[in-house]
Amino acid sequence: MASPEVLARVQALRREIDRHNHAYYVLDAPTIPDADYDRLFRELQALESEHPDLATPDSPTRRVGGKPLEAFPKVRHAVPMLSIRTETDTEASGALAFDARVRRELGLGDVDPQVEYSAELKFDGLAINLRYENGVLVQAATRGDGETGEDVTQNIRTVHVIPLRLDTESPPAVLEVRGEVFMRRDDFERYNAKQRDAGKPTLVNPRNGAAGSIRQLDPKLAAQRPLSFFAYGLGEVQGWQAAPVTHSATLDALQGMGMPVCGERITGPGAAALVAFHDDIAARRDQLPFDIDGVVYKVNRFDLQRELGFVTREPRWAVAHKYPAQEQMTTVLGIEVQVGRTGALTPVARLAPVFVGGVTVTNATLHNQDEIDRKDVRVGDTVIVRRAGDVIPEVVSVVRERRPQPEPPRFNILHAYPACPECGSHVVRLEGEAAVRCTGGLYCPAQRKQALLHFAGRRAMDIEGLGDKLVEQLVDRDLVHTPADVYGLDLDTLAGLERMAEKSAANLLHAIEASKTTTLARFIFALGIRNVGETTAKDLARHFGSLDTLIAASEADLLAVRDVGPIVAQSIIQFFAEPHNLQVVNKLRAAGVSWPESAGVQPSLGILAGKTLVLTGTLPTLTREAAKEKIEAAGGKVAGSVSKKTDYVVAGEEAGSKLAKAQELGVAILDETGLLTLLASDSDHAQHALDF
Ligand code: IVH
Repeated sequence: MASPEVLARVQALRREIDRHNHAYYVLDAPTIPDADYDRLFRELQALESEHPDLATPDSPTRRVGGKPLEAFPKVRHAVPMLSIRTETDTEASGALAFDARVRRELGLGDVDPQVEYSAELKFDGLAINLRYENGVLVQAATRGDGETGEDVTQNIRTVHVIPLRLDTESPPAVLEVRGEVFMRRDDFERYNAKQRDAGKPTLVNPRNGAAGSIRQLDPKLAAQRPLSFFAYGLGEVQGWQAAPVTHSATLDALQGMGMPVCGERITGPGAAALVAFHDDIAARRDQLPFDIDGVVYKVNRFDLQRELGFVTREPRWAVAHKYPAQEQMTTVLGIEVQVGRTGALTPVARLAPVFVGGVTVTNATLHNQDEIDRKDVRVGDTVIVRRAGDVIPEVVSVVRERRPQPEPPRFNILHAYPACPECGSHVVRLEGEAAVRCTGGLYCPAQRKQALLHFAGRRAMDIEGLGDKLVEQLVDRDLVHTPADVYGLDLDTLAGLERMAEKSAANLLHAIEASKTTTLARFIFALGIRNVGETTAKDLARHFGSLDTLIAASEADLLAVRDVGPIVAQSIIQFFAEPHNLQVVNKLRAAGVSWPESAGVQPSLGILAGKTLVLTGTLPTLTREAAKEKIEAAGGKVAGSVSKKTDYVVAGEEAGSKLAKAQELGVAILDETGLLTLLASDSDHAQHALDF
């Protein structure tokens, strides 16, 4: 038996971890660094494995996934999980038909008051019943045939937004919460990009991602998939004191217990409220962070719901009103490639036009050769295309039964395009790279166009008005070969281009002129050096202070810059070793592009060079950002958590566990004055950095 102290510690850890989980996953506002969280989590895991008698079903350690199952046990639903009627009319008028039916069934005449409705989103995932007994999650089941589903409790526990314990003082004896497990679009894209980079299979769409993860017999695999959940109703309920009497109040109450409930919902009178909601959501559907396939209307009052009842397993009090589908079938007319800024040849399927996700789609990306191979997409194939949100349409899968006979050959980029379709240069696929690349560099017009767009971009030289259409013309008419040529353009040339009035030509010239005054960081970023993004460009500018110092830098010099590794260092060296590139840089300077220069802040010179500091608590005058800037300007690094490698902890008011940890490890502790004194002894360097 565990001692009372151990029990208390275990309970305190669970409460703290639950709190951090909620902040991180539900509120999207992390309260501690990952490393500190991991430490708490491991401490709890260790205590639980030492004292198996302390294990509980609602411990946060149960979220990582247990042993794989042979099969899912069957679960009989206490209250059947019904489906919902679909209004076939996809126009807003579908809502009018539903209201008319409800009023007729309730025996309401024209003079009777409006029925109050709740309207919410129809999430596109997998329906789940969560059973809480005395506030603890004891079972999660799929819908199955509505009467009997599958017990997927282990997998559901890995979904971090689902509470393992309801946040309430007096939980009902039984509370079944029904809702949808789904995958957000950004989580889906991120997961697939990671899988693609690792050469692993991708998920077909977010819905299959969610459903497939929950049906996964190995909960450790399920735990790796980023899933979300929204509650939209109830199953069996016993002993709920003062239970709500409307649907909307129920969702509010569930939310109050820590259950995720979607904020996109309304309650309002009559069909007009439903039509307004339908139109509002239709207009914003692409901007939602997850897929929906429609909206759902429900009669808000439970007594009226009971009065309306059911017909053949579908409630009369609810209806789903669908939007046009985000996946459609079409055929691949051809496969072509697009050449990007870095010369990567991205395969694109040319499609028979198809209306999907609200627009007519004629192209869809195939990403790279590995993706073509994995999905085995061939010219002539019937495919499913998906367009959701603002993402580029994508070929999801091939309908194999519809492949033409005899079978068309497999598609290989290198065979189809041994030379770049834009410039005729050689095309290569380097070892370990997913992309096939054109070797033409800036000789290649496609790369030149992209390089120019990047150069003029908002975060680079910020030349407003130099967009797609213009760059296309400037490069195709041989008016601009390199970014430096932009500064030689005159009013007559610009005004002679298509869709360019004199006024817009003058505006553009003005923007070009204004862009000449810039910063070193922007200039470095604008050059489009491979692997040098905006942050690296800033670090390089800060570190070297002048362009010539950067150009002259050796690999060792570059590696001394924060976050610069061998790959980035090599890219920079290769870029400046190319005479063409140096010529462009010199022409840009000759054209008058300039920026303030400084001696730079080499870490070997700063007083905090090579030192790692941790900030904790609130400092009396400096914001966290300002303190960090000062420390970095003096060559120091700011880390998120305290370890033996920490040199100083800078502690302010209400410093918490980090301060305790510093004391425990004997790390030097400074207050704000201490930090400022230290920095002042090195004022030269602090000054340089503030120039940026
Ligand atoms: S209510 C008795 N509300 O759509 C009414 N269902 O056939 C029960 N769904 O697979 C369903 N979003 O999982 C309801 N806001 C929502 C929903 C929703 C998605 C799914 C549900 C079921 C299907 C209804």
